[in-house]
Amino acid sequence: MNVQALKETAKALVKDGKGLLAMDESNPTCERRFAALDIPRTAEARHAYRALIVTTPTLNEYINGAILYDETLRQFTQDGVPFTQFLIEAGVMPGIKVDMGTTALAGHPGEKITEGLDGLRDRLQTYAKLGARFAKWRAVITPGAGIPSHGCIQANAHALARYAALCQEARLVPIIEPEVLMDGDQTLQQCAAVTEQVLRTVFEQLHIQRVLLEGMLLKPNMVLPGLACTTPATVAEVSEATVSCLLRTVPAAVPGIVFLSGGQTAKLASARLNEMNATFKSRLPWPLAFSFARAVQQPALEIWKGESSHVHAAQQALLHRLRCNHAACRGEYDPSMEGLSP
Ligand code: G3H
Repeated sequence: MNVQALKETAKALVKDGKGLLAMDESNPTCERRFAALDIPRTAEARHAYRALIVTTPTLNEYINGAILYDETLRQFTQDGVPFTQFLIEAGVMPGIKVDMGTTALAGHPGEKITEGLDGLRDRLQTYAKLGARFAKWRAVITPGAGIPSHGCIQANAHALARYAALCQEARLVPIIEPEVLMDGDQTLQQCAAVTEQVLRTVFEQLHIQRVLLEGMLLKPNMVLPGLACTTPATVAEVSEATVSCLLRTVPAAVPGIVFLSGGQTAKLASARLNEMNATFKSRLPWPLAFSFARAVQQPALEIWKGESSHVHAAQQALLHRLRCNHAACRGEYDPSMEGLSP
């Protein structure tokens, strides 16, 4: 493990109030998003869409890194430049999703475990050679009646820690993503309790597996009421609950926290991130930034719709969301910025 290099990369991923762009949808997830907009579910369309994102000018003004998927990490622009090289030359570090998705956790009805540890050491070597500087693994925790179980939280936290240790051995900074899903009718308080328990367990497992906290990033959910919860929460309540939970569970040695968006609308995700930074920044030991997929990409995808003549407008929509979230990292986002949207 090269401690200094890991620390520097982790810090560089959250420097200057910038975040990350998650464009690491697996092919099935990408195709689900395409199908919803009648975009052809083909390898050509996936390539065209990923090229649109990668070649968006000035990405580096708002993000320090982009998380790619295995297929994307190996692709080229129309001019024959590897996506990884194009991003590096544009000042954006390439990263890679390395988990193999979720499956049912045996003996735990309704709960999931993330797969991908088998052969991971070799895959990480390959990804590092292809230019990746960091990696991501997503664990899914489902709140509901009687769940999440102790067994599910422990199993997922253990897998995250094993993944993180392997990444650091391969000189890749691990992004640790334990996602408490928004589906369900849980209240804000219930989500807070589950998220706190999950993060405590994750950091205990990271310690047991000797993961260098200074050489990793955490990618958590915000603390939110479930989508079917009938008691809404204000932006201020979400911000307060999220920051309290993180302050109780995330060691100050962690260089940064980059939220997932989890199905929030693009504008709400920006407003909630902004509120946390505007209200609490001076009390926080780590920068709070973003690593959104849907909350950054969705407006661009809806404009693009698979049409080459829409590429420029879609890139402008992508940049707009990144600009809003970059402002939110500094507590300077204002809903009036949305009026400038293309
Ligand atoms: O694994 C999921 C992505 O990295 C984040 O996606 O912002 O749409 O939740 P999301």
